[in-house]
Amino acid sequence: MTSLPRTVPATWYTSDKFIEASREKIYNRGWHFVSTINALSMHPELNDGLEDALQLNFVGNPFFGVCNVDDPYKATSVDLRYGVYEDVVRGCKTKEEKAAKIAELPTVNHVVTEGGLIFVCHEKTPAKSFKEYFGNELGQFIDGKDFRSRSLRRRLVYECDYNYLTFIDGYQECLHCQYTHPGFSKVYPFEFYKVDPYTNFCRHHCNPVGGSKDEGLFLYFFPSCTLNQYGGGMGIFRANPVNGNKTRMEFEYFFDGNDEEFEAYFKFARQVALEDIWLCEAAQQNLVSGIYQQGVLHPSKEVGVVFYQSLIRDRIMAQ
Ligand SMILES: [Fe+2]
Repeated sequence: MTSLPRTVPATWYTSDKFIEASREKIYNRGWHFVSTINALSMHPELNDGLEDALQLNFVGNPFFGVCNVDDPYKATSVDLRYGVYEDVVRGCKTKEEKAAKIAELPTVNHVVTEGGLIFVCHEKTPAKSFKEYFGNELGQFIDGKDFRSRSLRRRLVYECDYNYLTFIDGYQECLHCQYTHPGFSKVYPFEFYKVDPYTNFCRHHCNPVGGSKDEGLFLYFFPSCTLNQYGGGMGIFRANPVNGNKTRMEFEYFFDGNDEEFEAYFKFARQVALEDIWLCEAAQQNLVSGIYQQGVLHPSKEVGVVFYQSLIRDRIMAQ
């Protein structure tokens, strides 16, 4: 009998020490998807009170992007700096004072792809180039595509009571979709849902009912950020670990259309997101109670989970 792939130990799903190890060995190494360049356009009303910067922090390593992108089609880099923006500019009275303070801070290694996606690397000298890190395989999905055509319409940030593994386990398969996401499954039937693993990322795809009018494109970037094109819009999320039982979810919704059309797309996307919160927070309660120890994974139907968990295991166990 061939042995089935096994999940990572259940203790990791509730452990603060696991998050600490993730910070050092996963989030602070390699290349990480952040957002599209439009997230750093001048959008004062969207930036949560921070008028001119987007605060970011995967875990324990805050950095921010200055929202000064005037024309996303002309910008080939962005201003990303280490620090907490609010602390940096506290007490500054003028724009010039703010700019001078920001200019003193170390910059974050980053790449803006030709289609307008931003990736960062926290290594001082990246061990692998951006293209090498993704095995020279990412270009086929993002090159020649324009991720700048839809503007940022809404940003949501909130904390959920689950470990980031609990959430990504769900994202990386669609077996749960039929009973958890009845609305989504009507449009994107799970029978046609497929996850293809590549190097440090996966491509999910599914065929909508009634032809290929709006074929979904879902890109998962290890460990916990994604880009999702479906329902006529584009959403990204960053699932940032807070501790063993908490994750800060950051969603950005991009859309090209009038307010009414956007609200219909947003409602559709939010329904899926809310259903995942209910599912994952309930799963986390079971993990906390200690009922679950370790399980097996289906080698093909859960291939996305097998793939990302093997990367998690390899990085955490590496010296
Ligand atoms: Fe889901």
